[in-house]
Amino acid sequence: MSEAQLRRITELGDPALDDYLRMTDVKLRSRVEVERGLFMAESFEVISRAMDAGMAPRSFLMSEKWLQKFAPLYERFPEVPVFVGEEALLEQLTGFHLHRGALAAMQRPELPGVAQLLEGARTVAVLEDIVDHTNVGAMFRSAAALGVDAVLVTPQCADPLYRRSIRVSMGTVFQVPWTRLTSWPAAGIDGLHEAGFDVLALALTDGAAPLDGVDLGPKRKVALVLGAEGHGLKPATLRAVDEHVVIPMAGGVDSLNVAAASAVVFWQRRAMLSLG
Ligand SMILES: C[S@@+](CC[C@H](N)C(=O)[O-])C[C@H]1O[C@@H](n2cnc3c(N)ncnc32)[C@H](O)[C@@H]1O
Repeated sequence: MSEAQLRRITELGDPALDDYLRMTDVKLRSRVEVERGLFMAESFEVISRAMDAGMAPRSFLMSEKWLQKFAPLYERFPEVPVFVGEEALLEQLTGFHLHRGALAAMQRPELPGVAQLLEGARTVAVLEDIVDHTNVGAMFRSAAALGVDAVLVTPQCADPLYRRSIRVSMGTVFQVPWTRLTSWPAAGIDGLHEAGFDVLALALTDGAAPLDGVDLGPKRKVALVLGAEGHGLKPATLRAVDEHVVIPMAGGVDSLNVAAASAVVFWQRRAMLSLG
């Protein structure tokens, strides 16, 4: 590594280090990362998956003992600084111990437009106001594993590129095409209709059709809408969609966790596609 790339830090004055400030403050980070056009990748696997998906680092941060392990990553970007410091100093900056070795501040990619995202897609998931990063990550992982072509997140949905979402998704947030809607439900549902999608709400409403009786076969392009953890889908969404679909519950349980519900419906869609 060149001397120019290696930046040994003994104090926290460099403004480039601000990318790593107070990383345990979820509220602050959720705002600042979008404002600054960055997201954080941690661990060798996540950083390398992000890079393989075409994303560019703006800097790396690690202690001396990780330099060798992460060399194959930072050597791919010789012009990008690698900040190296004592563990206590790094902890003071980030607010936590970097037990996964290194962090990379990555350039946040520009998201595609909705029309572009829907082109060629036949199965789409819509995440309405899912606030928990763990659920967002788990839903992306299911989407990738079960053949969902694209994901739309509503304006209030938690950030798929927040580090917990990335980690829980196992890096599939870099793999599944996604974008954020600017308006939901009205304009968002209209856009789905214009692109030829039937919009199905996963909902526990009276009269919702049981999932196993719903046609999810290849003749239909479907958008599967899943709602917030606490109160479920918005009334306006429930009014605007084409159908309500319920996963029948047993054992006196009133609902599934939203990520579990997403896996069930994605699986059913996949099974019905393969039956033709
Ligand atoms: C924990 S549930 C919300 C429960 C909320 N009390 C309600 O009545 O919708 C979160 C989301 O998961 C999905 N979901 C969970 N269980 C479901 C089921 N049995 N059938 C259909 N959707 C379900 C729905 O999209 C729901 O909005």
